[in-house]
Amino acid sequence: MSSAYLPSYTTPQPQHGQHQSRSRYYASRVKESWLAKCLCAFFLTLPLIVAVTIFVLSLIFRPYLPHFHLSSFSAPGLAQSTGPINSALSFNITDRNSNHKTRIYYDSIYASVFYNDTEIGAGPVLFPFYQPPKNTTVLLGTLTAKGPTTRDSAWDQLSADVAAGQVKLNLKLTLVIRFQVKLWDTHQEHMQVECDFAVGKDGNILSQSVDESCTLYF
Ligand SMILES: *[C@@H]1O[C@H](CO)[C@@H](O)[C@H](O)[C@H]1NC(C)=O
Ligand SMILES: *[C@@H]1O[C@H](CO)[C@@H](O)[C@H](O)[C@H]1NC(C)=O
Ligand SMILES: *[C@@H]1O[C@H](CO)[C@@H](O)[C@H](O)[C@H]1NC(C)=O
Repeated sequence: MSSAYLPSYTTPQPQHGQHQSRSRYYASRVKESWLAKCLCAFFLTLPLIVAVTIFVLSLIFRPYLPHFHLSSFSAPGLAQSTGPINSALSFNITDRNSNHKTRIYYDSIYASVFYNDTEIGAGPVLFPFYQPPKNTTVLLGTLTAKGPTTRDSAWDQLSADVAAGQVKLNLKLTLVIRFQVKLWDTHQEHMQVECDFAVGKDGNILSQSVDESCTLYF
């Protein structure tokens, strides 16, 4: 009996110690779980913070697209009233990078000239090259004539337009470019530039089309 009482009589001390260690244990548990929650919240919001930072930085450093103007165009072959267009087509396009800090790398440029969906000339243009900020570069292209020949259905319409003194043409540039802000480099962007213009009897650009702004597409 007494032996049964004895432990219960002597329990207060160990019990007190046990209580203390338990509360210390719970306190540390609470601290741990609080720390875990903090860490967890931090790692959950970290991607969000990074994403927002990147978004804001990209807005600040967003590069402006280059501007293209057609300054001159010549297709002397159009003046020949018979046979295929066998002399080269040439053009002059001014290309303006208006960015303060962004460099533009032109990895490739390919030009095609169309008359009502018929390709009349094509070829690569001055590539690759790099354009510093606030720079205007003149793109000079010399394209190989492709047609139409007298046998093509577009020929009659084309010669009628030549005779009438106005041939509507479309110059298309297909570009692969990259923007570089300091060390950060965008991946390659594929763009298209389209210039609508008209040439006269001699195949030279009409004054109304000179310095016409070209349209950019992605
Ligand atoms: C191309 O056009 C620009 C702007 O009109 C002009 O300054 C430049 O002299 C031209 N270059 C050639 C080779 O025609
Ligand atoms: C363009 O070509 C189509 C058929 O290929 C023809 O019907 C149309 O009249 C042409 N338009 C012009 C402006 O030449
Ligand atoms: C524009 O950049 C090109 C290529 O780097 C360079 O040859 C040309 O001189 C620059 N033009 C101006 C006006 O700085």
